[in-house]
Amino acid sequence: MSGVLSEQSLSLADGDATEAAGARLAAALAGLPDVRFQIFLHGDLGAGKTTFSRGVLCALGYTGRVPSPTYTLIEPYELVPRPVYHMDLYRLRDGAELEFLALDDLPANALFLVEWPERAGRALGPPDLVLQLTLDGAARKLHIAAMSVSGAAVLGHF
Ligand SMILES: Nc1ncnc2c1ncn2[C@@H]1O[C@H](COP(=O)(O)OP(=O)(O)OP(=O)(O)O)[C@@H](O)[C@H]1O
Ligand SMILES: [Mg+2]
Repeated sequence: MSGVLSEQSLSLADGDATEAAGARLAAALAGLPDVRFQIFLHGDLGAGKTTFSRGVLCALGYTGRVPSPTYTLIEPYELVPRPVYHMDLYRLRDGAELEFLALDDLPANALFLVEWPERAGRALGPPDLVLQLTLDGAARKLHIAAMSVSGAAVLGHF
């Protein structure tokens, strides 16, 4: 993959380990300045993308249920210091369908967690981190690539 500034791989034995990895990533985001930060989550159906996102959101202080945004496309979380938008674009047919979400109008310090980002084509803008979850028997492997300077800073604290 071109444009990778740094990368890490880890094994995740079960769903709890996937959530814990999300929580670690949330902690690594703590020092980030007030900039938009975008995380792409790749992986087959059931690979663990929503589970990881749940770990991020819980560690950022969200105490409610974290549903899969499969039908809503986007779930907003009004967290402090930064709002989080959890997206699942599996049902999107092309990037033009994203226009009605008016993503550009969302706060400048928003954190985006995007499942199935490939469905959006180029409509999303570049990611800071690209995560790939793959099945590994009953467990999962997680590969994280930093694609921007802020992404590399966050991955450095992961
Ligand atoms: N490391 C892991 N080892 C084993 N099972 C896991 C692991 N991580 C997550 N799972 C389990 O995989 C199942 C599916 O996870 P999840 O819904 O997060 O997948 P997803 O990638 O979001 O799928 P979709 O593309 O359908 O949205 C859940 O039951 C979850 O507990
Ligand atoms: Mg999901």
